[in-house]
Amino acid sequence: MSGCRVCGGDVTTFLDLGQQPLSDAFLLGPEQIESEFFYHLRVGSCRSCHMIQLRDEVPRERMFHEEYPYRSSLSSVMREHFATTARSLLATELSGPDAFLIELGCNDGVLLGTVAEAGVRHLGVEPSGGVAEVARGRGLSVLTAFFEEKTARRVLEEHGRADVVYAANTFCHIPYLDSVFAGLDVLLTPDGVLVFEDPYLGDIVERGSFDQIYDEHFYLFSATSVASLANRFGFELVDVVRLGVHGGEVRYTLARAGARVPSAAVADLLAEETDRALHAPGTLEDFAKRVDRICDDLVGLLERLRDEGRRVVAYGATAKSATVTNRTGIGPDLVSTVYDSTPEKQGRLTPGAHIPVSPAAEFTAPYPDYALLFAWNHADEIMQRESAFREAGGRWISYVPDVRVM
Ligand code: SAH
Ligand code: TMP
Ligand code: ZN
Repeated sequence: MSGCRVCGGDVTTFLDLGQQPLSDAFLLGPEQIESEFFYHLRVGSCRSCHMIQLRDEVPRERMFHEEYPYRSSLSSVMREHFATTARSLLATELSGPDAFLIELGCNDGVLLGTVAEAGVRHLGVEPSGGVAEVARGRGLSVLTAFFEEKTARRVLEEHGRADVVYAANTFCHIPYLDSVFAGLDVLLTPDGVLVFEDPYLGDIVERGSFDQIYDEHFYLFSATSVASLANRFGFELVDVVRLGVHGGEVRYTLARAGARVPSAAVADLLAEETDRALHAPGTLEDFAKRVDRICDDLVGLLERLRDEGRRVVAYGATAKSATVTNRTGIGPDLVSTVYDSTPEKQGRLTPGAHIPVSPAAEFTAPYPDYALLFAWNHADEIMQRESAFREAGGRWISYVPDVRVM
């Protein structure tokens, strides 16, 4: 087994989620089952730099390509979140003359739209051709490429240095951070910043949200591991902000070492992580035990409902749900269909579990008895839109932070 992907140090595996399919590889039909790709999903912690990481790496081209189905703009809460984020960057880091923002993983342009509207120079770097094309269709500038040192040099030649490199739910997708930081070093202005937001290890451990672990989420960041990562590459963690979106994230701001004074929030979060022993082996082992318990409870509940003759569906064909269904063996016998608003997922089968995906618009009366909320991170938005389900006597099932009928 190889060492830490960041520092080469020894890594201890604390959670084994078994063989898993690609979380966003929805099948056109049963004929594709035979050729489905699987990998071993295991998570480890580096004893030197504390980075939490997957032990096995899926080649990036298998995950991010022309057909990558995730669409950022489908959630109204996320649209609002990114509009607010863009406005805040515009008012601060991008307020100077001829400011320039680069976004890694811009997807369908959910954040860049606001930057472009303000007349500020922008460029998206997005390897998934389908979503990049959607963004271009909105008049945005997008380069279809994986971000790495080579891409950074090309962008530098064509566009010059950037004041901000921003990435949401993308930085944790990139295993080869040495090349990324080499690229950031050439691309950022002397006072430029890297701003990225990703699922927070602290929230994952607290809520038991193990479904944040899947092929695309190669790293589970914390202030502790990001501060160490930054130092390794000549940068410094200068700000952290906790976010409520996607089940709990942190927005990290990195500047060149010594360029800025770190905010008090950095020291506070580092101290909090030390106080709660977030990276201690015992904490991570307890988390792994909790994962087993949640999986057993969920299967137990679904089997009981099936035996009672209840009709159970799921809501949100999330990448996260691939981890849950494939770890537990939950399939169409326990959950007949999963409703989802993404056109690119509808009419397909979920990866590994092969549950048919139906359009969310078909989630109507006569309602099922229960709906398992795979998109629990969008609970408020979904439960509000589908309020008629509950009014008709339907019940939502969640498994975060524990298995319960709501
Ligand atoms: N920022 C959006 C999209 C997140 S999905 C949001 O928060 O909703 C992750 C995106 O990162 C995908 O669109 C994927 O194609 C892109 N991505 C994956 N690897 C990348 C890399 N090396 N460089 C840039 N983008 C990458
Ligand atoms: P995410 O948790 O990775 O953002 O994925 C959310 C999934 O849920 C995505 O496939 C879209 C779907 N979805 C709905 O079907 N209805 C909704 O209202 C929302 C917000 C998401
Ligand atoms: Zn390490």
